[in-house]
Amino acid sequence: MDQAKFSDGVMHTKDRGSTHLSQETVKKLIHQSQEAKQHSYCPYSKFRVGAALLTPDNCVFTGCNVENACYNLGVCAERNAISKAVSEGYRSFKAIAIASDMNDQFISPCGGCRQFIREFGSNCDVYLSKPDGSYLKMKVDELLPVSFGPEELSLKKVFDIPNDTEPVL
Ligand code: THU
Repeated sequence: MDQAKFSDGVMHTKDRGSTHLSQETVKKLIHQSQEAKQHSYCPYSKFRVGAALLTPDNCVFTGCNVENACYNLGVCAERNAISKAVSEGYRSFKAIAIASDMNDQFISPCGGCRQFIREFGSNCDVYLSKPDGSYLKMKVDELLPVSFGPEELSLKKVFDIPNDTEPVL
């Protein structure tokens, strides 16, 4: 990873430690997602998406969608932002703002991104925005009800795969 470029994507906001986001913080986070959208690499879909993710200590990690000639390798903006944050040591998030170019519709995170956000907790607020800065605030549980998460993996099962099960070589 290009360290210089990466640190550009990390910003500190004023209201350190607060749980409720001020209008100013929400506005700023949405603005940062719009800025991230400008880096979108989307020659195939021509659909730009940006995301800005707020950590508990008020750092912001941004991401954009990055497509590929091998279409299925494309990565969404939200997943890029989350992966950047996780690879820098963060595992819980206060909020994520998402931006696109759609005039009349709030950008809605795809199913995979909903699951990706949910992995790191259901308390993250998700701000679906329009280019004019208006937004819809949603909880992860609203976007992905009755979700499957890491907790399920350790629940009691009727059958346990033995620990000495060997992989096929
Ligand atoms: N896209 C995102 O980046 N996030 C979403 O939640 C929805 C879709 C991207 C993926 C692809 O590059 C383009 O938008 C069109 O689907």
